[in-house]
Amino acid sequence: MRLEGKSVIITGGGSGIGLACAQLFYNEGAQVSIIGRRQEKLDVAKKIIGTELLAVVGDLKKNNDLDDLVQKTLNTFGKIDIVINNGGVFSGSPIHETKDENWDNIMETNIRSVFQLTKRVLPHMIERKTGVFVNISSIAGLIALPGVAAYNTSKAALIQFSRSIAMEYGSSGIRSNAVCPGLVKTEMTKELMENKDLMQEWSKDYPIGRFGDPEDIANACLYLASDESSFVTGVALPVDGGFTAH
Ligand SMILES: NC(=O)c1ccc[n+]([C@@H]2O[C@H](COP(=O)([O-])OP(=O)(O)OC[C@H]3O[C@@H](n4cnc5c(N)ncnc54)[C@H](OP(=O)(O)O)[C@@H]3O)[C@@H](O)[C@H]2O)c1
Repeated sequence: MRLEGKSVIITGGGSGIGLACAQLFYNEGAQVSIIGRRQEKLDVAKKIIGTELLAVVGDLKKNNDLDDLVQKTLNTFGKIDIVINNGGVFSGSPIHETKDENWDNIMETNIRSVFQLTKRVLPHMIERKTGVFVNISSIAGLIALPGVAAYNTSKAALIQFSRSIAMEYGSSGIRSNAVCPGLVKTEMTKELMENKDLMQEWSKDYPIGRFGDPEDIANACLYLASDESSFVTGVALPVDGGFTAH
């Protein structure tokens, strides 16, 4: 077991990449707590993983809900070893047509909430001189995908925030890395994936010849969350079938 006895928070753990992480981490011996807004998704996660899963209904954009998540995790598991900042939203429009509320929603969900949760968890990690953050960015944090400027900006900011944690808290025994997935088959990309012609076109950019599955990303997260990566911090790891290799 690669995460025996570790306590893990996974945001957006009710679906897609977050749920794949929750399942894998639980199977590797972790005590897992997840947060999402939709009760029905959390119920399904509980059915899949089991009653030991701590599922907290909450909105990452609300500080009170983050307080609640941290408190419930500490009350239930007694500590927080690992945080997977995975919850996020994706949408796009040309910059000149982007409504302020859409820009703000992406920034608040994809980056401000990560700052808010990190800020709440760090004191506990500093006290115990151990901790790991894995931050789910995107290839959109490394290159600018067309038509999704707010998303690109939020994911690039997340990489820099992730590096900043690594720089500031490495001497406190805390590591932080970003994972940058290419296109992965989840709820977030379901509509895109239904456009067969577009997918055929895009697949040419993936040297490995396929798009990602949530488990591909969860496996990378497991490595970065476990002690096997104890000398790895401050990296932004593409998990993208070679998309960013050219
Ligand atoms: N799929 C891809 O191709 C891809 C590629 C690169 C990066 N990513 C990143 O991977 C992460 C996971 O996405 P996914 O592909 O697994 O899609 P997903 O299934 O839609 O997962 C997103 C999760 O985030 C949660 N979430 C969103 N806003 C929230 C909020 N305000 N409060 C609480 N939870 C919130 C959602 O739960 P609720 O809606 O129930 O709140 C959902 O469980 C995202 O950060 C995404 O940007 C995905």
